[in-house]
Amino acid sequence: MSLNARTKYSGLAMLLHWLIAVLVIVQWRISEAAEEAPTREAGGQIMANHFALGVVIFIVVALRLLWRQVSPPPPQVPGHAPWERSFAKLVHFAFYALLLVMPVAGWIAMSAFGEPISVWGLFSLPALPVPRSEALGETIFELHGASGIALLVLVALHALAALKHTFVDKDGTLWRMLPFGPARG
Ligand code: HEM
Ligand code: HEM
Repeated sequence: MSLNARTKYSGLAMLLHWLIAVLVIVQWRISEAAEEAPTREAGGQIMANHFALGVVIFIVVALRLLWRQVSPPPPQVPGHAPWERSFAKLVHFAFYALLLVMPVAGWIAMSAFGEPISVWGLFSLPALPVPRSEALGETIFELHGASGIALLVLVALHALAALKHTFVDKDGTLWRMLPFGPARG
């Protein structure tokens, strides 16, 4: 096995990681744009993109998790404290859990409103057989909004940790997720 294969994520894992990161940021900006829209109708039209992109993110994250079974991550960075290893694992788990649960929750909420989800007219997710209830839909969306904030806080923490490890501790963490830069082993 080459040094690269032992200390870096696979090329496809890197591609999926950065794709998910970009899509999640775009997803957040769409929900902000909808909130700032001048009219309810305009906000609704912008939000249709958030619903559709949510379905796409779910699919890309599911692919990432399948690929993770085929090509597991390299062993954790040597020299990190045990609490850092556990915390990193916990944050990564929380990302995958949130990125799968949030779109499903969105689907359930839309179903409670009796609405399908159109993915830019390409295909639609039908309403699930859940009880029709505006109150249920609204409660789920409130939780979804709070989860969205939690997700963003974790993203900030995650990115700062990666940058601190790479440029302050100089332990090469960031290069594990990039095709260039030194491979350590
Ligand atoms: C929405 C944004 C992001 C999400 C959802 C995200 C999610 C994740 C997840 C789930 C992992 C674990 C990969 C696995 O083992 O399967 C990971 C690893 C990693 N991420 Fe991110 N990430 C994001 C943004 C970033 C940014 C902005 C940076 C850099 C500044 C970054 C740097 C890294 C690095 C270096 C690793 C590998 C860590 C290690 O070797 O243990 N990520 N990320
Ligand atoms: C992984 C996919 C998704 C992510 C990362 C995500 C993320 C977010 C974020 C960050 C917010 C803004 C929270 C705030 O600033 O208050 C938000 C709000 C919202 N999202 Fe999503 N979302 C996803 C999928 C979906 C889906 C599939 C739907 C609907 C089918 C949906 C419906 C909504 C609604 C209605 C709001 C406004 C909630 C409120 O504050 O009342 N989202 N989402």
